[in-house]
Amino acid sequence: MKEKILPGMFLAAGLTLIPLLAASQVNAAGQVDKKLYPYAPSLLNYEKSGAPFTPPEACADCHPSQYEEWTGSVHALAFQDPVYQGELNKAVKAVGHDIARQCEGCHSPAGVVTGEVKGPGLAGLSPMALAGVSCDVCHSIKDHTGWQTPYHQPENGSIVLSPGKDAPEGPVLTKYGPYKGGEECGGGFHECVEQPLHKTTELCAGCHQVHHFETHTPLESTYREWKDSPYAVKGIGCQDCHMVAAETFVRSADTFKKPERSEYRHYFNGANFLLYHLAEQAALKAGNKELAANAANKFSMAVARLKAAAELEVKPVYRDGRLCELRVRVHNRRAGHNLPTSLTNVRQIWLELTVTDAQGKAVMSTGTVSPTGELPEEARLFNSDGMGEGFHFAIDPWKVIAFSRHDTIPPRGYRDVHYGVSAPAEGGPLKVVARLRYRQAEQKVAHALLAAVPKDMDLKAIYGLEALPELPVVDMATAELSVASRQ
Ligand code: HEC
Ligand code: HEC
Ligand code: HEC
Ligand code: HEC
Ligand code: HEC
Repeated sequence: MKEKILPGMFLAAGLTLIPLLAASQVNAAGQVDKKLYPYAPSLLNYEKSGAPFTPPEACADCHPSQYEEWTGSVHALAFQDPVYQGELNKAVKAVGHDIARQCEGCHSPAGVVTGEVKGPGLAGLSPMALAGVSCDVCHSIKDHTGWQTPYHQPENGSIVLSPGKDAPEGPVLTKYGPYKGGEECGGGFHECVEQPLHKTTELCAGCHQVHHFETHTPLESTYREWKDSPYAVKGIGCQDCHMVAAETFVRSADTFKKPERSEYRHYFNGANFLLYHLAEQAALKAGNKELAANAANKFSMAVARLKAAAELEVKPVYRDGRLCELRVRVHNRRAGHNLPTSLTNVRQIWLELTVTDAQGKAVMSTGTVSPTGELPEEARLFNSDGMGEGFHFAIDPWKVIAFSRHDTIPPRGYRDVHYGVSAPAEGGPLKVVARLRYRQAEQKVAHALLAAVPKDMDLKAIYGLEALPELPVVDMATAELSVASRQ
């Protein structure tokens, strides 16, 4: 029974075998039928034929604009990302080689099903495998198996890859896309199949819903957060915010109007400005000015998205005529999922508040980064804390099995933070500056990941990195006001 259990069967068994429930449900939750999912712990599927996967450079010949937009995107960098390679290396050392397939199933799926990618490192890999989430990954997605997974929703790469088929005259390449192609579609290189999935969020869901490799508990839940949001109700999906220019995304978020076909772009631009910064450094080091400009443009777009995502409102609260509290309301205005999303136990969004009196003397200050890049302990963060077996604090995805705290802000929702202030005895106005700040990770976490990159990735040679600089911070929103200390 342990080997053969099918997803869905256990629920029925659990109802009749109540005494066994606790022990076997833990196993059953992680049980994956290897016949349904041969690449487990990744839930990829592959329709194998003589048709190969095509590297992006070959698609570029006929689709130059999509290629330029995708180049330097987080999808293009998904496998070569040094932060990813560092964490993958740690994962394999901690729990053995099997786990690598789970990670690679999302960070380089074509490399997994062809058997080319086998763990950390870049040496000897073909351009197709190095291309991460490439053109031919998404446009070979024939279907998804999201409702049959152990969690009965898309997770851990539950997509079906089918780059083509065998025909009497030899293998034929098949590309799936959202539109009905005309007579000339594919230019003799590929046939075109209209696949409505490409217009929906479920195309992205399998990879943007990361579950623990054994217990299958959700660790990164971007798809689920979106599905429970007003954007899902109003028909605004991932593509409508992440596959358009920054201004168009603001319109999608504010008006719930879907972009026109001509407005879609292959940017896949989110919040990871740090990765674009590294990509720009690498391009400059390699002497490729065009690529460096491309990365710099994506950096600005990510910063623009972060700045459009949130808003701050500060309200003074008085008791017996004296200022006693500042209430800071943080709104998630335009993220189609929680703020932050996905790696919520790694990403950092926090409030910095400084209050000064008429003489410029500090009355209070909280959330200011130290010169060495550390946040004070009392800083108010919007993020989560993971817990591992034994319910202790854990951060790595193979250790975290649930969350002890989840304090992210839902789409179109808000959080209130109350700061007690004692108004100065002499009265007078106070100057209040509140900032909502974002960075990819805590200084020491970033340090540990970059220190763990595989040996064949020389950070000095590729990025010109000698030591880890202080991680850059982006101000998502700022509120500045003068507040009377007496009412
Ligand atoms: C279901 C698909 C999926 C699986 C499985 C997966 N990842 Fe990811 N990973 C993602 C997505 C999507 C992101 C982007 C999230 C974001 O930017 O907020 C990501 C981001 C990351 C990042 C952050 C990169 C950066 O530059 O900040 C690291 C590190 C990472 N993954 C490592 C791993 C490791 C190691 C594993 C295996 C233990 C793994 N991932 C498994 C989809 C996946
Ligand atoms: C993460 C998945 C993903 C990746 C990677 C991806 N695409 Fe797409 N592609 C889509 C989606 C979704 C659409 C529909 C949105 C749109 O109209 O652009 C699309 C649309 C297209 C279209 C049709 C555009 C039109 O209006 O006729 C072409 C052509 C295309 N992609 C080519 C490419 C090429 C070439 C690459 C690599 C350089 C690529 N795609 C990478 C998801 C992807
Ligand atoms: C020899 C030229 C050529 C090459 C190479 C080529 N395509 Fe196309 N493709 C076309 C033409 C022509 C069309 C139809 C016009 C258009 O949409 O640009 C098309 C259309 C598409 C579409 C749109 C289908 C739809 O929904 O309307 C997608 C997606 C696509 N190609 C993906 C790819 C991918 C991925 C690659 C690389 C693996 C690739 N193409 C390589 C010529 C080519
Ligand atoms: C085959 C798996 C896969 C599919 C399908 C996929 N993604 Fe991703 N996506 C990833 C991975 C892996 C990363 C993170 C790579 C990293 O950080 O190293 C990522 C990163 C991103 C980011 C960048 C996040 C940031 O922090 O800046 C955005 C935005 C994004 N994806 C949007 C989409 C959209 C929209 C779709 C559907 C049209 C989609 N993805 C489909 C695997 C996938
Ligand atoms: C209404 C617009 C909107 C929609 C819809 C939307 N997003 Fe986002 N997304 C944003 C904004 C704004 C940000 C930047 C702020 C943040 O990090 O949340 C973002 C950030 C991200 C990030 C980076 C998170 C981080 O901090 O590293 C990922 C990954 C992502 N989105 C994926 C998705 C996926 C997958 C979907 C569909 C399930 C989706 N988004 C739907 C607006 C949107």
